[in-house]
Amino acid sequence: MTTRENFGSKLGAILAAAGSAVGLGNVWRFPIETGQHGGAAFIIIYIICILLLGIPIMMSEFLIGRRTHSNTARAYDQLSGGTCWKWLGRLGVFTGTFILCYYCVVGGWTLQYTTMAATGAFDGVPANEFGSLFQTFVANPWMPTVWLIIFMLMTHIVVSRGIQHGIERFSKIIMPTLFILVVLLVVCSVCLPGAGAGIEFLLKPDFSKVTGKVILGAMGQAFYSLSLGMGCLCTYASYFNHHTNLGRTAVNVCVIDTIVAIMAGFIIFPSVFNIGMDANNLDAGAGLLFVSLPNVFQKSFEALPFLAILFSTAFYFLIFIAALTSAISLHEVTTAFIVEEMKLKRRWAALIVTAVCSAVGVVCSLSFGPLKDVLIFGMSIFDFFDYISGNIFLPVAGMLISIFAGWYLDRRILTEEFSNNGELRAKYIPLIVFLLRYIAPVAIGLVLLNQVGVFSFLA
Ligand code: TRP
Repeated sequence: MTTRENFGSKLGAILAAAGSAVGLGNVWRFPIETGQHGGAAFIIIYIICILLLGIPIMMSEFLIGRRTHSNTARAYDQLSGGTCWKWLGRLGVFTGTFILCYYCVVGGWTLQYTTMAATGAFDGVPANEFGSLFQTFVANPWMPTVWLIIFMLMTHIVVSRGIQHGIERFSKIIMPTLFILVVLLVVCSVCLPGAGAGIEFLLKPDFSKVTGKVILGAMGQAFYSLSLGMGCLCTYASYFNHHTNLGRTAVNVCVIDTIVAIMAGFIIFPSVFNIGMDANNLDAGAGLLFVSLPNVFQKSFEALPFLAILFSTAFYFLIFIAALTSAISLHEVTTAFIVEEMKLKRRWAALIVTAVCSAVGVVCSLSFGPLKDVLIFGMSIFDFFDYISGNIFLPVAGMLISIFAGWYLDRRILTEEFSNNGELRAKYIPLIVFLLRYIAPVAIGLVLLNQVGVFSFLA
């Protein structure tokens, strides 16, 4: 039997998992959703979703990974006792690969925008030109492809160095950098004139805006943001040692992820209000990051061009590292699978994943240009990848994970893992089991129905 690596420290394990969670989802969706759907009211709903769904499901994934110390597919194989549940692990590996294929496209864009910001390319661009700047860039067959490959190679280098020397060491350097950048950007942004209106927009509670649909949206967002529903956290947990407190680690990761998401709002909205833009009409997603914000930052710091360059460079670099650590966690799912199932050296396994995902990523990327007329179910290839993985695979897998952990798994296994074989008291176990059995599957079922449009009649 080959010996398997573990994370060398508790902090390393937390930072790696937090690196997976903190990603594009925190920056390009959470702040906008919060601002438009009731400010602090939305944040409260979101935190409830994290408590009721996020933490229990994250703990289940941790439990499954740490119990088996195996890649996701084998982990479910071992625990499923030959039943159909074994397919859940395979679904996780598949979904991870799928997400990585389009995530790396956006990762490439963040690199392009970091270099553009750093070289002052946004300087003097008229406000209404940022849209076409972005369109021209993504439609070009070459540049996005080159950046995507560079992004994948960076991911590759970290993953191929293994757990302690690659992922853990990298997370320990890059996550603190990320926090420092976030704090600096928040400080800079809230000092802008007019920042108060932005903060008010973000925080003022307005419960009248919280409809059923908003709640379902918050659940879906919590899910994506925490990297739940596939193999990422399960794979990372397979490198946890026997003393890692699964409950505490899950809480830490959720807290870090939520704080970064809220802080992202504090970076974005003060600037938006500072230049008098209508925050209710902002796009979420790529339009926000690559069209509205370059303009917002440029205008906000118009009087101090140097600061404009510094601020936007720091911002795009921040998104880049957030995307990179998430991509690393996605890459690791499939790499661990190939290493263990096909008995390849890590280096080769990682290379296969990098090559395949880059190739499919290029196809996704080209769907903004030469391949834009190729439609799958009426969506471009990129949108199709995004839609099917985020809106279908993840909730389905999340629901199944909660049923698997809550109903199928022996309660003894849960108790042993959550209490580290009796080392910890873990009095919360009955509560977690209750949430996994009754609350999570129903709630996620509703999110799923909402995402496929069943509740379109709701407000
Ligand atoms: N959580 C990341 C984000 O906020 C994205 C991500 C990484 C992810 N790994 C995942 C989402 C696994 C779902 C499942 O951008």
